[in-house]
Amino acid sequence: MSTEKPILLTGAAGTLGRWLRPRLIDRFGSLLSSDIVDGGETHANETFVRCDLADGGAVDHLVAGCRAIIHFGGISNEKPFMQIMNANILGTYNVFEAARRHGVRRIVFASSNHAIGFHTTDTKLDALSPVRPDTFYGVSKVFGENLASLYVDKHGFDVACLRIGSALPEPKVIRALSTWLSYPDLHQMIVACLTAPRLGLAIVYGASANTRGWWDNGMVAHVGFNPQQNAEAYASDIMPTGVDDRDPRDPATRFQGGPFCSDGYDNPHDPDWPPR
Ligand SMILES: NC(=O)c1ccc[n+]([C@@H]2O[C@H](COP(=O)([O-])OP(=O)(O)OC[C@H]3O[C@@H](n4cnc5c(N)ncnc54)[C@H](O)[C@@H]3O)[C@@H](O)[C@H]2O)c1
Repeated sequence: MSTEKPILLTGAAGTLGRWLRPRLIDRFGSLLSSDIVDGGETHANETFVRCDLADGGAVDHLVAGCRAIIHFGGISNEKPFMQIMNANILGTYNVFEAARRHGVRRIVFASSNHAIGFHTTDTKLDALSPVRPDTFYGVSKVFGENLASLYVDKHGFDVACLRIGSALPEPKVIRALSTWLSYPDLHQMIVACLTAPRLGLAIVYGASANTRGWWDNGMVAHVGFNPQQNAEAYASDIMPTGVDDRDPRDPATRFQGGPFCSDGYDNPHDPDWPPR
């Protein structure tokens, strides 16, 4: 039996965590899973620990038992700032700081497309494009990316920040023709990030090989993520007439973050919205 410590997955009770757990166990032999809520049925070779990421002592204890971290836990949509601060900002700080203390130097961090959501949909982005968060949630992901940069430069960590688009079994809306990440591609991306010899700070866009994609992973080719699916296979189901019937002035159409951008949008300097 291997004496190697398991990989830790935070957010293990979430949508993506539940799908990933058996597959990560198959690939890596064992898993230490954690979430603030109950994780349901535990698999063979899996240990589940309930833990609030905002509790630094509990996170320290958790991280002591692992060799690498897939940090997917936290609030995954827009919420009042104090909730985001505790779960995502303080929570991510606790994970990185515990990792430093325990010599765990590889972290795969679930960032989000909402770190760059206010770029327009006619803009192509790569790893050096400036951040343009579209929510407090997006700001918390930018914080996580900046924390990753600090721990890479100061402590020699290898960190992948996954700017995940829309991780879904199938794309269902027009925006997802650009942002879709299939579950098999998500899995392949995580495995690549855990097995690449070195990551440094890798800003990786989490999207399938979508014909209408906005994001270029050319600068992080060393990670070895080669997505296989393409949302275009669903285009005729999503747009049977072939026509994009969304209002082109709507911030949800114009900006990459979609409805996260239009939610609460009241920019008085915008000549296009609301329509006059
Ligand atoms: N699903 C997507 O398309 C997508 C897109 C971009 C980014 N992401 C990111 O990927 C990760 C996983 O996404 P998901 O769709 O599975 O989200 P999810 O909301 O289903 O899962 C997140 C999990 O984190 C847990 N959590 C929340 N607060 C916590 C706390 N204080 N302590 C410990 N656990 C806590 C929740 O209980 C939940 O089980 C998230 O970080 C999300 O922001 C997902």
